[in-house]
Amino acid sequence: MNFIQWALNPWGERIPIHVSWDLLWASAIAGVLFLIVHAIYVGYWAKPVAESQNDSKLAAAAARVPERVARHSFGARTFHWVMAASMFVLLFTAFLPKVGVRFSWVTIHWVAGIVLTISVLYHIIHATFWLDFWSIWPDKQDVADASRRFQRALGRATPPLKKFGKYPLENKLFHLSVLFAGLAVIFTGLFMMFRVRTPFFTRNPYLFGDMTWGVMYVLHGLAGVGFVALITAHIYLAVRPEKFFLTKSMIFGWISRGKYLEHHDPERWPVDEGVPEAGQSKAPEVVI
Ligand code: HEM
Repeated sequence: MNFIQWALNPWGERIPIHVSWDLLWASAIAGVLFLIVHAIYVGYWAKPVAESQNDSKLAAAAARVPERVARHSFGARTFHWVMAASMFVLLFTAFLPKVGVRFSWVTIHWVAGIVLTISVLYHIIHATFWLDFWSIWPDKQDVADASRRFQRALGRATPPLKKFGKYPLENKLFHLSVLFAGLAVIFTGLFMMFRVRTPFFTRNPYLFGDMTWGVMYVLHGLAGVGFVALITAHIYLAVRPEKFFLTKSMIFGWISRGKYLEHHDPERWPVDEGVPEAGQSKAPEVVI
């Protein structure tokens, strides 16, 4: 299979012009394969994850946990859903024409691209200055626990596992993949706007040489196609029964004390204050 579509420019040079659209199907199949393998792994192979550790420090931390633990602030939730909406528009406008649905997609596509770009800029500033910046990056403890979880799945004895911080390793890895693919489509997409008519600047297809444009279109297409697998996996995980409380927290902003104590380590994700329950007066905001 050829991963790239090539063409000859007026000077007879062979240049890349697009990614091969067969990769769209490869990415969709990879996403579906991931969910089949994951469902089999969780159903038949994975062993229960973390056991409670009878540590008096942990018990004291647990006693301070409120009934509703704030997980995503209003700003973070708004960002997530704006990004998700723009992402869907980008995927449908990009790929429906590739599978034969003809419509005028380019303007809707770059407008959604601008919405995505602005939302990502907002997120970077918000996460850097207002949120717990380091909570989303994999750390040594995640790697040690992942290796122990794998050993356990193979039936080997291991030292006790720690519960998660705010984000499990798989969420951190997903975030990292979306970060790379997202920056790639945004960076290339903004330049590609010079190839089409927009109200912002005069169209200039000669801004770069054929080869640079070609590489840009290929990178944009590769990252875009990659999103098909990433988003399929993300939606599948979001609707899995054991993860659905996380999806609900992206709507309502909080998780219950029970879910927090079941999945999270109060030392790795300390929380002291919560979200008021219906009918209660408003408690101070914990996250912005
Ligand atoms: C999930 C995100 C995105 C996906 C899946 C995606 C996908 C695609 C695909 C498959 C193409 C066709 C490329 C080709 O013909 O080789 C394309 C073109 C384009 N995209 Fe995106 N894109 C995304 C984000 C963006 C963003 C963020 C922007 C702008 C900020 C953008 C602007 C453009 C432009 C201007 C074109 C060129 C249209 C043309 O030359 O006819 N895209 N996109």
